[in-house]
Amino acid sequence: MLTLFSPAKINLFLKVISKRPDGYHDLASVFQTISLADQITIEQAEKNSLTSSDPKLRCDHTNLIIQALELFQKKTGSKNFFKIHLIKKIPIEAGLGGGSSNAATALWGCNHLTHSNIPLKDLQEWGAEIGSDVPFFFSQGTAFCTGRGEKVFNLPNSSAQSLWVVKPPEKLSTAKVFRNFNFDNAGIHNSPEVDLVKFCSEASPHFNDLELTAFSLEPSLKKLKDLLVDSGFKTVLMTGSGSAFFCLGNGVFPPDLNASIYPVHYLNRSITHWYQT
Ligand code: C5P
Repeated sequence: MLTLFSPAKINLFLKVISKRPDGYHDLASVFQTISLADQITIEQAEKNSLTSSDPKLRCDHTNLIIQALELFQKKTGSKNFFKIHLIKKIPIEAGLGGGSSNAATALWGCNHLTHSNIPLKDLQEWGAEIGSDVPFFFSQGTAFCTGRGEKVFNLPNSSAQSLWVVKPPEKLSTAKVFRNFNFDNAGIHNSPEVDLVKFCSEASPHFNDLELTAFSLEPSLKKLKDLLVDSGFKTVLMTGSGSAFFCLGNGVFPPDLNASIYPVHYLNRSITHWYQT
């Protein structure tokens, strides 16, 4: 039996480049794993099964963990089955990549438990079949991602950074946010590489092209951002397609804030081990 840590991610910047003929959007984004995480216990079993600490979470084929188990069986042609228990802590429909992280963690667990020795590069490529964000989690936790998010270029691990994740009650569907994205709301169009160089060289480089779309779908999110900025945080930015924000710098949260607040830090993994506390 293996117990694995399945971390959330934030997007330190996110640029939407163009809409593709397949309906997806080409992006340029720096992803960073953080210490807010689910826990996955995985063991071999007679058939695939998934249980969760959150009774509201669907544990059927719609869950990316079940899709990851089936993908591993299909790709390896193995007759191994797995029993997984998920302790859910990462808020869902928040832009924190929880489902994608769970899928990547399950693939890593299947590989490890069955001693299959599938190279990580292959697991990463397979993961793209489940979701655009899955391949990122096979990096060491800091990466520049392009394409629909599945082209992952490892960056040096970030230096330690404490921050807060703020999750309001509103949920946002990724598909809905992208569907409503308007290029008039995007920043200046640069090539992905230019965006990365600018991000690395500027003093205040955080931005997310999806914020304005999220604010038009859920105006209360704009009010929350304004409130957090007024509370003294240097950077307040929505992550992914929302609805969660991350806050950097020294602010003081208003006592009556209608949101969950998670104190977290950047987290990276060593090249040989999965993410750990
Ligand atoms: O890849 P994933 O299943 O996570 O994407 C969910 C939805 O978000 C897609 O069906 C697509 O509508 C949208 N999306 C997009 N461009 C991306 C990633 C996701 O339009 N780069």
